[in-house]
Amino acid sequence: MFPSHRPRRLRRTAALRRLVSETAIRPEQLILPMFVKEGLTEPVALTSMPGVLQHSRDSLRKAAVEAVQAGVGGLMLFGVPENHDAVGSGATDPDGILNVALRDVKSEVGDSTVIMSDLCLDEFTDHGHCGVLDAHGNVDNDATLEVYAEMAVAQARAGAHVLGPSGMMDGQVGVIRGALDDAGFQDIGILAYSAKYASAFFGPFRDAVDSQLTGDRKAYQQDPANVRESLREVQLDLAEGADMVMVKPALAYLDVIRATAEISDVPVAAYQVSGEYAMIEAAAANGWLDRRRTIMEALMSIRRAGADIVLTYWAVEVAGWLREA
Ligand code: PBG
Repeated sequence: MFPSHRPRRLRRTAALRRLVSETAIRPEQLILPMFVKEGLTEPVALTSMPGVLQHSRDSLRKAAVEAVQAGVGGLMLFGVPENHDAVGSGATDPDGILNVALRDVKSEVGDSTVIMSDLCLDEFTDHGHCGVLDAHGNVDNDATLEVYAEMAVAQARAGAHVLGPSGMMDGQVGVIRGALDDAGFQDIGILAYSAKYASAFFGPFRDAVDSQLTGDRKAYQQDPANVRESLREVQLDLAEGADMVMVKPALAYLDVIRATAEISDVPVAAYQVSGEYAMIEAAAANGWLDRRRTIMEALMSIRRAGADIVLTYWAVEVAGWLREA
């Protein structure tokens, strides 16, 4: 009689496997992060992220159109200024690179996709921290919030549909919500980077944004040891008015994604970050991993853990694969 249970029956043919598949990835659930650098006339390839570019304003517009045509769900823009200063002036300047790029992309693709912008100071400060510093060189939470409020309104004016505060300042979602509402931008959404860890997996991103950081972000980003703390962060962001919440990085934090999905009553996003991208690209380039299967498996695990939306540098390529399948 043994074995009386044969789970393999449902794995026998491709049609059976397809029938009982529990998790799917759709192109609309993928968001493409994009970098645009001030002053470039040609895009620049990033060595530590093969296949990813620092865009010029022109190449960004073209790449945005291509991404929309590929059917991705949204774009997340990061700006790389030519000049940095202590308070990150380029972030609030309407003519700062990120705001200019938002206007460019908005005029190119309009409302045909969801245009998002990183709301953080690290790309713009000369010390590379996500906020402004106090007299002792520590990131000053409440002084930073004032700058974020101004940055939020500038990004909304420039045409962003959704803002992505990623600086892990306490109260950032509430302050940004208030500033948007006061300026008449009640309809602009907030994708809160709620559970963001002080992660080594952000390494290649620092090249992508010409990061000026010398120390680390452990005094504001979370300790990789903690998950209860993430749930507190998520609950606070929900109470402050987050329209969506995010966990970041993704692959090393699948348990955090799962726990977040269980308590969130808004969509949950996860960010498959630069280091997750670089690891797979490097191994694939060496012939050590099957590139396409590994990418799809990593993305599937993030969806299976409970992410509704995934930010991934492979968004356009994966959207293409999903359409041909
Ligand atoms: C901060 C920000 C970072 C990333 C997205 N937003 C860097 C950091 O917090 O150090 C990392 C994204 C990636 O690694 O792909 N503006």
